[in-house]
Amino acid sequence: MNKLTIRDLDAAGKRVFVRVDFNVPLEDGKITDDSRIVAALPTIKALLAQGAIVILASHLGRPDGKVQDSMRLRPVAERLSQLLGIQVNVTGDALGVGTEDAIKRLKPGEAILLENLRFHAEEEKNDPAFARALASYADVYVNDAFGTAHRAHASTEGIAHILPAYAGLLMEKEIEFLGKLMENPERPFAAIIGGAKVSGKIKVLRNLVDKVEVLVIGGGMANTFLLAQGKPVGKSLVETDRVDDARAIMESAEKHGTKIVLPSDVVVAKEVTRGTEYKTVSVDKVPASWNIVDVGKVSIEAMRKALEPAMTVFWNGPLGVFEIPAFATGTKEVARFLAGRAQAGATVVVGGGDSVAAVEQQGLGDRMTHISTGGGASLEFMEGKELPGVAILLDAAPAAAAE
Ligand code: 3PG
Repeated sequence: MNKLTIRDLDAAGKRVFVRVDFNVPLEDGKITDDSRIVAALPTIKALLAQGAIVILASHLGRPDGKVQDSMRLRPVAERLSQLLGIQVNVTGDALGVGTEDAIKRLKPGEAILLENLRFHAEEEKNDPAFARALASYADVYVNDAFGTAHRAHASTEGIAHILPAYAGLLMEKEIEFLGKLMENPERPFAAIIGGAKVSGKIKVLRNLVDKVEVLVIGGGMANTFLLAQGKPVGKSLVETDRVDDARAIMESAEKHGTKIVLPSDVVVAKEVTRGTEYKTVSVDKVPASWNIVDVGKVSIEAMRKALEPAMTVFWNGPLGVFEIPAFATGTKEVARFLAGRAQAGATVVVGGGDSVAAVEQQGLGDRMTHISTGGGASLEFMEGKELPGVAILLDAAPAAAAE
């Protein structure tokens, strides 16, 4: 990565503002998946061990500039304190005299967490005065929030115009794994792109179609491709305004010699609900009033066969209506297959909320090469976009890097 990281920083005695992505799922005030907190620990621990004063900041949810008690960071601070083995208090607000005083009282090797930044509308507006207020707490800025690096907000972009800005270790790891896929993947390179809609993934498909040898398309978005091939899709979710895009992707694949793997058989259901009637049919025989909800066994086998030789695989998005257990088979099978490939030496990178959930639910997380903490961020990275939260960090110019 051509950015300075905390390895280039002498943090001893310095006040370090660390933007983390602690936007974790909560149910009844309890964290249901703490992996984003765990992923930020190496940076926090390294800074504390150096004797830095660590001021942590994150958003949680989308409170739209208003205080919402359900989106307070207290459960996060509690979990973080357990994981670090030191008390990390959360401030009452990201701004204010009480917060300033609490920060002033911190000693080297201690940390504090600011309350949800998005309780202030100025955060998402990248308001310069809000960025200055945050910057006033610290001498140095570290961005370890890869999951939020696609947002140009005050705490991810604005503040880095004011303080010297370094990447954290998680940020570095994410960029290295995803960057290698884009720049120098071990070949053959395959991508599996699923999820409900083509519209959300069109840019990533366009960017990957000439970079991979195999492109597996599943989930609701495959329906639009099937429609583009003239197949019947019944009542299934389709985006008729995206049929031309699907066709263009298939033409581009043909031009570049990329193999596209679409479902050949599918699970169809009367309704997209639990307990409904369902069956497996060929893609040529989808009944008019039924919905495609998963890939069928023949498709799974074909996908496996196409993916088998791949030495690098990127996966984003489920292959069926994964929330309903009866329609989660394709997604689960792919997760198991990829875990096996990773164990056999292939590089398997999983990015995006639902595909990560499928992996974690089956306890396969440790078996993958890398599970990105970024949903939208990893997708935008794979679209080939420069993420604003990364672009603004200090460049590792040879002279500076040698310091
Ligand atoms: C995420 O969960 O993808 C990040 O935390 C960013 O959240 P946002 O989409 O609300 O900006």
